[in-house]
Amino acid sequence: MPRRNTIAVVGAGHVGESCALLVAQKELGDVVLIDVAADMPKGKALDILEGSPVEHFDVSVAGSGDDAALSGADVVIVTAGSARKPGMTRDDLLNVNAKIVGSVAQNIKKHAPDAFVIVVTNPLDVMAWLVRKTTGFDRRQVVGMAGALDSARFRTFIAMELDVSVKDVHSLVLGGHGDSMVPLVRCASVSGVPISDLMEPDVIDRLVERTRKAGGEIVKLLGDGSAYVSPAASAVMMTEAYLKDQKRVMGASAYLTGEYGIEDIYLGIPVKLSGRGLEEIIEIDLSPEERTMLAASAEEVRKQIDILR
Ligand SMILES: NC(=O)c1ccc[n+]([C@@H]2O[C@H](COP(=O)([O-])OP(=O)(O)OC[C@H]3O[C@@H](n4cnc5c(N)ncnc54)[C@H](O)[C@@H]3O)[C@@H](O)[C@H]2O)c1
Repeated sequence: MPRRNTIAVVGAGHVGESCALLVAQKELGDVVLIDVAADMPKGKALDILEGSPVEHFDVSVAGSGDDAALSGADVVIVTAGSARKPGMTRDDLLNVNAKIVGSVAQNIKKHAPDAFVIVVTNPLDVMAWLVRKTTGFDRRQVVGMAGALDSARFRTFIAMELDVSVKDVHSLVLGGHGDSMVPLVRCASVSGVPISDLMEPDVIDRLVERTRKAGGEIVKLLGDGSAYVSPAASAVMMTEAYLKDQKRVMGASAYLTGEYGIEDIYLGIPVKLSGRGLEEIIEIDLSPEERTMLAASAEEVRKQIDILR
């Protein structure tokens, strides 16, 4: 008998709640919101469900404080953990979130061993590495959400600067999800026209810098917590690519086994996401300068991962 997909979102905080709402609005499947707090996810789930007659989506949205609610999930989005506070770097979060994500990973292994796992919790590349290590899953099954968001931010800034539709702007951001990320300027275009034909170099540099610091810009403005709508939209785009076997090409954090000369860490690179999960890591020729920046970013991520080895 055909059945609906189930998407479990672990961590019913800002990002988790937004993921649940977007998944439901897109009717990608039934949603289960799970948190350590038992009642709060039930309240958020009910709130989303009560919007469904108005928004015209028809899926089940449930909340739970029980890890067993992961059973049968086709996709698990991991957002459990602490968010950055003002002045806190993503790295400060490492030890706090490693404990949380390690236990979430054990629960995924126990209750949803066949699920496709999208990690969102920061520090992103380290947490994705930890989930794969703890679960022992194939690398196809565990990816981190970073490049999709970093690229969305770069695209937004390019569109704002040039006063064009974001729909026509494309870009690719590689590297760790942090200040060392590598926006590939030569891959950024407006309907195929390279941005270097449309903007002066100093303007491009400014947009690259803003992209690198975009997470912090929002942390500062919010005063409490970090971005959640665009991160959730990016994680849900990855969910959709998997569930609909879309073969979408985007930046994501993936386990490298020698690609780009890097191994045994998670790092942002271009991937193809399909019904097979991480179907392919796409290796593009990098310029010597890009290669150096990517290697430096990889070293930053490796240092953090080494703390957990
Ligand atoms: N990858 C990215 O680009 C990106 C973007 C934004 C946020 N993030 C990260 O996502 C994470 C969540 O951010 P947020 O704004 O939703 O934070 P939040 O504080 O609003 O929500 C986190 C939730 O996790 C829950 N939680 C804690 N331990 C848990 C456990 N063991 N099991 C289940 N739930 C648990 C908390 O109770 C809380 O409800 C943070 O680490 C943040 O830095 C990443």
